[in-house]
Amino acid sequence: MAPSTRILAAAAAALLAGEAAAQPQPQARIKIDTDRTIGEVHPHLFGNFAEHLGRCIYGGIYDEGSPLADADGYRRDVMEATRRLGVTLLRWPGGNFASGYHWQDGIGPRAGRPVRPEGAWGALEPNRFGTDEFLRYCERLGVEPYICINAGLGTVEEARQWVEYCNEPRETYWAGQRRKNGRDRPWGVKYWGLGNEIDGPWQLGHKNAGDYGKFALEAAKAMRRADASIKLIASGSSNFGAAADWVGWNRAVLDRLKGEIDYISLHTYIGNRENNFENFLAASWEIDQRIEVVAGLIRAAQAGQANPRPIHIAYDEWNVWYRARGSGEFATGRTRLEEIYNFEDALAMGMFLNAFIRHADVVTMANLAQLVNVIAPIFTNEKGLFLQTIYFPLAEYAKQKGSQALDVWVSSPTYRAGTRPPLPYLDISATYRRADGTVCLNVLNRSEKMDITARIDGGGQPAPGLEVWELNHPDLKAVHGFGDDAKVRPATRHVPAAASGNGFVYTFPKHSLTVLRFRAA
Ligand code: AHR
Repeated sequence: MAPSTRILAAAAAALLAGEAAAQPQPQARIKIDTDRTIGEVHPHLFGNFAEHLGRCIYGGIYDEGSPLADADGYRRDVMEATRRLGVTLLRWPGGNFASGYHWQDGIGPRAGRPVRPEGAWGALEPNRFGTDEFLRYCERLGVEPYICINAGLGTVEEARQWVEYCNEPRETYWAGQRRKNGRDRPWGVKYWGLGNEIDGPWQLGHKNAGDYGKFALEAAKAMRRADASIKLIASGSSNFGAAADWVGWNRAVLDRLKGEIDYISLHTYIGNRENNFENFLAASWEIDQRIEVVAGLIRAAQAGQANPRPIHIAYDEWNVWYRARGSGEFATGRTRLEEIYNFEDALAMGMFLNAFIRHADVVTMANLAQLVNVIAPIFTNEKGLFLQTIYFPLAEYAKQKGSQALDVWVSSPTYRAGTRPPLPYLDISATYRRADGTVCLNVLNRSEKMDITARIDGGGQPAPGLEVWELNHPDLKAVHGFGDDAKVRPATRHVPAAASGNGFVYTFPKHSLTVLRFRAA
């Protein structure tokens, strides 16, 4: 694994004595070296997720009969907002829903599709949106589909048949069914998840690591016989409860499946339950740690193998989620999980994405959970939609896809958040686009009270200056709503770089997320 970003906490002001008097004294120092690349910011880091849950599919993506939908029932306004979000990959059909879903219920003429009680969230599933509707949606959006099989209550053969239905070019029974349903050419689904959160006791068909490994190995073999070119994602840890042995789960899964899988998944949701801004944004510590531990477990599983199969991390569910938990709603069948995001949640998007970029050598897929209405950046009603606060950083970071992640050296004032070690107030990632020499420096200032001035070394003194994208708001709890989604929007400006030595200085305002874009000199 490439070196992780090294963060040295120091009283940087002392180091930097002697700067030009007119400039504020830097308290932090950031060193950029465009040769110190970590890996590609994989386009699939900007994946998303659509589950049969609440109003994500029905009333979100798909709204038959709505004047806002096209002839196939897809909401045009949602498609447009999804495109502008920069989504590259879409995971479906769950989530917890996947562990009770039988895909054959969702194909063929709609009138013949069964309505079933749904075991994960308590709703009735009409099956009006199924495999072909999902894959057509992805095709129309130009995003890569990622299907998660039912490794809870489902069977190996059911999973194998699903691959055959989607990908088989020859005249077979399931390819014939696909053709009958209007799709001659194989859909060519490349990414397949071997189940969802099977380590969680809340999961339908929850298994221990041994039973899961056995099931997933057989499913992987059978699915690969249906299409040898597919990429498989094992169900990694999602249960970080006090009693959960998440390291043991990942170790066991990797040991068992290392010859078959291409990714192992990780899931993390965070929340500001204590109403403590700085502690909330300290969750980068757990995110970095989970990535680094799983990366180590991958290496350990492969140690001694001559030609190990490359395995990456798919962070295929992540977000802020703590208010709309839906506790007790199962019996009502109306679980919606409709979080309304505020400004500080938007800053958390930068924190997650910085962590993924810092580990770009091993995290090559990530899926925000979810796309519409359900813990989502896009929120609809029957008349239209609004963009939640979290939409904007996601869309901005997505522009860095395909660049090289840089290993940045940071020295910043630090703070203590609970029992964590001291954390730098500045949470940073950087990317470099070789083609035109553009550096993006992504800086989250997670101090609630303190602007932080940093000297940025190594990039020279960029001409013609800095392009600044900044997300900030005086009210950490500011939210958007229908007809009111202009409040928490990024400000953009060009500023000359304030020269200092082999670099420049810049002040990152308190509680802000900044992307500085410049040409490395
Ligand atoms: O995204 C909401 C739920 O969170 C998903 O269904 C599940 O996988 C996770 O626990």
